Amino acid sequence: MKARVLLVTSEAVPLAKTGGLADVITALTVALREQGIDASILMPGYPSAIQAAKNLRNIGSFTDFPGGEGSLLAGEIAGSDVPVILLDTARFRARSENLYVDRDGRELSDNAMCFAALSHAAVKLCAGLTTLPKPHVVHAHDWHAGLIPALLRAHNITDIGTLLTIHNLAFQGNFPLDIAASLGLPADILNADGAEFWGQVSFLKAGIRYADKISTVSHTYAKEILTPRFGHGFEGCLNRRPDAIAAIPNGIDSEVWNPVSDSLIARRFSFRDLKGKAACKSELKKLFNLMPLNQFAPVLALGSRITHQKMADVALAALPTILAAHPYLQLAVLGCGDPVYQHGFQQLAEQYPGRIGVHIGYTEKHAHALHAGADMLLHGSRFEPFGLTPMYAMRYGTIPIASRVGGLSDTIIDAGSVDQLVAGANGVLFDGEQPQDMIDAVNRTFQIFSRTREWQKLQRNAMTAECGWHAPAQQYIDLYRDIATPASQHLFPENSAAELDAEQQSQALNTIHEEALNKRKAG
Ligand code: ADP
Ligand code: GLC
Repeated sequence: MKARVLLVTSEAVPLAKTGGLADVITALTVALREQGIDASILMPGYPSAIQAAKNLRNIGSFTDFPGGEGSLLAGEIAGSDVPVILLDTARFRARSENLYVDRDGRELSDNAMCFAALSHAAVKLCAGLTTLPKPHVVHAHDWHAGLIPALLRAHNITDIGTLLTIHNLAFQGNFPLDIAASLGLPADILNADGAEFWGQVSFLKAGIRYADKISTVSHTYAKEILTPRFGHGFEGCLNRRPDAIAAIPNGIDSEVWNPVSDSLIARRFSFRDLKGKAACKSELKKLFNLMPLNQFAPVLALGSRITHQKMADVALAALPTILAAHPYLQLAVLGCGDPVYQHGFQQLAEQYPGRIGVHIGYTEKHAHALHAGADMLLHGSRFEPFGLTPMYAMRYGTIPIASRVGGLSDTIIDAGSVDQLVAGANGVLFDGEQPQDMIDAVNRTFQIFSRTREWQKLQRNAMTAECGWHAPAQQYIDLYRDIATPASQHLFPENSAAELDAEQQSQALNTIHEEALNKRKAG
């Protein structure tokens, strides 16, 4: 028998995605399965998810979810054997591409109801009320799944270990306290020692308080969240459980983001032969309507959710100075988020036609073209739990200019000065949140860019950085073993390295992404 782990999330590629969480869930589940764990995903039955799953069958219908009735549909992610269970409710079916907010960026009013139902669905699985066997461990991700440990406790289910992974402490799932009863929450947790947070009920705090263990996605972020600057008000309750907190840095899907085999880019290339990158640069310029200046003129990319977290405001303030100082520089912007900042970038593009190309939205094709074709990626963050995007860029020899926070300060090694390049450097880091901090970092990057040999050293280091999912998956397995009941601990393999067929693992992920791509093309 294998250990069964249920990962509960609101996003997983290719079923639904607004950010890095979706990438992490699917890649981690694939890696866990390759390493001997029977891992499956529970997530909302958004229309996109129902469409992109295969072999869906009803494993249980219930009338007592917050907000009404719902069914659990079990199937697989198309193109893979990754099991996925979708919570099918009328509310989730009504959600559009924008999973959590309306067109004006306002939180959808039934978020509390919808995601409380997701946690209750996990409890149904844990109570053995469906046709599937109960999991040994539930792995809850972010606030969307934060109520699970508290609900298991309330239902007196004590034979299932619970792990909460925090991907982003800024998203907390805080709602008015007076709706707690309608969410099926027991009164005895609605106090400062439980799920109450400044007069509200907080899904994330419930998870932090009641999960057996808590993990986050980089070593630096695990320390940062214990401080007022990065704790978002949770530093107090996190500091009360220091022994429960672990750090497991994410991996990236090193096959999907691979210049040697990427089918989404104009021409493939490697760090030994970067010629293909020039073709990718021309393609990027076409895609973003940039003037075809000489091919040595640098292209700076900006690709992320366009939000305050990602310092969109700082970039908007810094860019006019940067563009004035570097007259040949061109800029390609990809992403969506806060309407005010989106508008800011669109206005900037109007002021600099041919020099700035802005694509509001997100497609994998645009993202791959951006990382493959640009020279540098500007990635400011006020806080960054891990930061997958700069790692994707690095795989293509696109040098990140990023904030020295969270996971970015663990994965990026700052170049130092052009005259004394730091050995092993693969990017540029900056401190501070002022436009001038960003401007100085870009200027420093340009000094290195102008020396081809030094620049190529950075590119080589960036392209060969460690990044797979095998080691992180084993760390999760070790954590699961710690929280599983003594009777099931032996099911969690001690060291699955021997069993891992890395090739097979990356192929499985590739097929998932290709299927998703074909679907999108067909649609
Ligand atoms: P975060 O999760 O905070 O957005 P990461 O850099 O870790 O930051 O992950 C971002 C992921 O989301 C990448 O896969 C990126 O390509 C993708 N992405 C960025 N913007 C969007 C968007 N508007 N919609 C969907 N995915 C996006
Ligand atoms: C969050 C974080 C990001 C991290 C991602 C996956 O969205 O903002 O830094 O990489 O989750 O863990």
